[in-house]
Amino acid sequence: MAGLFITFEGGEGAGKSTQIRHLAAHLAENGMDVLVTREPGGSPGAEAVRHVILSGAAEAYGPAMEAVLFAAARSDHVEQLIRPAIAADKTVLCDRFIDSSRVYQGVTGGLAPSLIRAIERVAIDGMVPDLTIILDLPAEKGLARAMHRRGEAAADRFEKETLATHEARREAFLAIAAAEPERCRVVDADRPKEEVSEEIIAIVEKLIENRAETSSKTGRTLAKPA
Ligand code: TMP
Repeated sequence: MAGLFITFEGGEGAGKSTQIRHLAAHLAENGMDVLVTREPGGSPGAEAVRHVILSGAAEAYGPAMEAVLFAAARSDHVEQLIRPAIAADKTVLCDRFIDSSRVYQGVTGGLAPSLIRAIERVAIDGMVPDLTIILDLPAEKGLARAMHRRGEAAADRFEKETLATHEARREAFLAIAAAEPERCRVVDADRPKEEVSEEIIAIVEKLIENRAETSSKTGRTLAKPA
């Protein structure tokens, strides 16, 4: 069976990396071959672009420039790392993916959905996540967590924006989840991390069970489009 591709989305300080670590450890303990990665980044080419974007070096050229840079990084990441890993039966857990572009560059960056979707198609070439966990948290709480984590370091290109912008992003993630309930699951992240982790594990175990059932019924593996 082709590996599973699971992405984690949400605003700043929602706890994505902690939850990805817990889930990865749980799946590995259960014998799964797990690969943890992140965006922007994950492959050498994409990590180079990450530096350009998050330093704010491209901000002056506008959200369309940034959207194309995110997409260039994504395409490299998909082709160099994600697609080969999925083909090798690995379970890939990715910190941010297409929904971050839809929300940050699309909704709060003001780019047209048609442009965002066109760039997205080119960047992922069919590599749609099997599951997207959206960690939901009031923006104010997420920003406080992110500030605490950062310590003395300055806020990055996107963290530094206004509370209203962060709140709009939260709403935009929830709107994606409502529009694509097959792919997306919203998890309340405003709880102790152990509770959040338990819910995520239950969601992923259900997905694995459903997949195994489907492939035993059809006698086919669920390979991803090339
Ligand atoms: P992070 O690694 O701390 O999550 O930082 C990534 C930042 O980049 C975060 O503020 C969200 C933003 N971002 C976008 O604006 N668009 C994207 O497509 C991705 C992947 C991230």
